[in-house]
Amino acid sequence: MCLVGGAAPQGWKISWKKLLTFLLFSFIFSFCLFASLRQIRTPEPEDNNSYLPTERSQTGSTCTPPKSERRLTILLWTWPFGQRFTFSNCSELFDTPNCHFTANRSWSQKADAVIMHHRDVCGDGARLARLPRLPSQRWIWFNMESPSHSPNLGAMNHLFNLTMSYRRDSDIFTPYGELQLLSQPQPFSIPPKTKMVAWVVSNWRPSSHRVKYYEELKKHIPVDVYGRHHLPLPMDMLHQTVSQYNFYLAFENSQHEDYITEKLWRNALFSGTIPVVLGPPRENYEHFLPPDSFIHVDDFASAGELAQYLQELSRDTERYQRYFQWRKWLKPVLGVSWAMQVCRACRFLQRTEASYHVVPNLSKWFV
Ligand SMILES: *[C@@H]1O[C@H](CO)[C@@H](O)[C@H](O)[C@H]1NC(C)=O
Ligand SMILES: *[C@@H]1O[C@H](CO)[C@@H](O)[C@H](O)[C@H]1NC(C)=O
Ligand SMILES: *[C@@H]1O[C@H](CO)[C@@H](O)[C@H](O)[C@H]1NC(C)=O
Ligand SMILES: *[C@@H]1O[C@H](CO)[C@@H](O)[C@H](O)[C@H]1NC(C)=O
Ligand SMILES: *[C@@H]1O[C@H](CO)[C@@H](O)[C@H](O)[C@H]1NC(C)=O
Repeated sequence: MCLVGGAAPQGWKISWKKLLTFLLFSFIFSFCLFASLRQIRTPEPEDNNSYLPTERSQTGSTCTPPKSERRLTILLWTWPFGQRFTFSNCSELFDTPNCHFTANRSWSQKADAVIMHHRDVCGDGARLARLPRLPSQRWIWFNMESPSHSPNLGAMNHLFNLTMSYRRDSDIFTPYGELQLLSQPQPFSIPPKTKMVAWVVSNWRPSSHRVKYYEELKKHIPVDVYGRHHLPLPMDMLHQTVSQYNFYLAFENSQHEDYITEKLWRNALFSGTIPVVLGPPRENYEHFLPPDSFIHVDDFASAGELAQYLQELSRDTERYQRYFQWRKWLKPVLGVSWAMQVCRACRFLQRTEASYHVVPNLSKWFV
């Protein structure tokens, strides 16, 4: 629309009419040019601190880039249990920009967030409380152990901004495993069964609920126990060995809400056997698994009755197979690698708007 028109002045002998026409055209031209430049330069009005990744990167008009474009730095205060691992590229695991991870504490005054693994810092609450910290930096309390095995929770009060654990109501939920929905139904073939019940246990405490339950159960049905002080089982033989059994005792070391560990995900489900679970109540398991994918000890009045049910089921092929029907649509995935867990923290920080938040009393919540 805006044509560079009008006659350019040819000399000083110009009539007033021509001059006015020229001025008018010049004015219209300048106005149009200004308006079109404004259109290019004006940032989108939705520049409101949303942390969701957007395609705003082309409009490089603001001085400070939106948070989603800045690579977040996450400091891992200690390697969990001293176990070093290689950080993953979170963009490949999740639909999220990658983070810069480091375990080098010289980043402590620059990092956007610091992950502290409970068991490595729980004896050190007083020292942590004295550390200088950036007002915008978020401290993340990370723990995969149950409250029964998490000493000194009281020393962690008013230190952290976010929780990261297997508890579903954590700020950053890091489960031991989960079921993935398949896009196409897939047949599942149950590994051939030649044996009855298996259990792999390393931490044997005779007074514990699970050992007492086992002592009662084995009076009624054969149970092969593997692990320290029992039948040897190298890690690389786990799935092959357990898959021959009709049932697997996924007995947790303590009973707490959502505390459902690799005993169920890796040992039982990954090996293609039916888990017999002892842990939180059935309703809690049903948040993670279909009701017909496991057997809960609480469904039976006694260990003897459970044994009788297992015997019957092992002889009734059709009924046994029903415990595997869910596998046509769902696949268990393990979530236990440290690299994946810290990527979940990365994803959370990228997606969630930062706001003031303190975890006041950990021992009150983490029970
Ligand atoms: C940010 O802007 C978008 C688009 O204008 C709007 O939908 C959204 O509600 C805004 N969010 C906040 C937190 O203001
Ligand atoms: C991470 O993965 C993304 C997507 O595959 C890729 O574009 C990016 O270059 C990778 N970053 C690094 C540091 O490897
Ligand atoms: C930690 O980072 C500092 C500063 O970037 C560097 O000088 C130091 O060598 C690093 N330490 C390790 C162990 O990588
Ligand atoms: C994080 O928690 C600390 C300790 O309670 C607090 O001083 C700080 O203001 C909190 N920061 C944020 C961003 O919530
Ligand atoms: C934290 O909660 C526990 C359990 O409810 C309580 O015994 C304790 O006194 C609380 N501590 C503080 C500092 O409020």
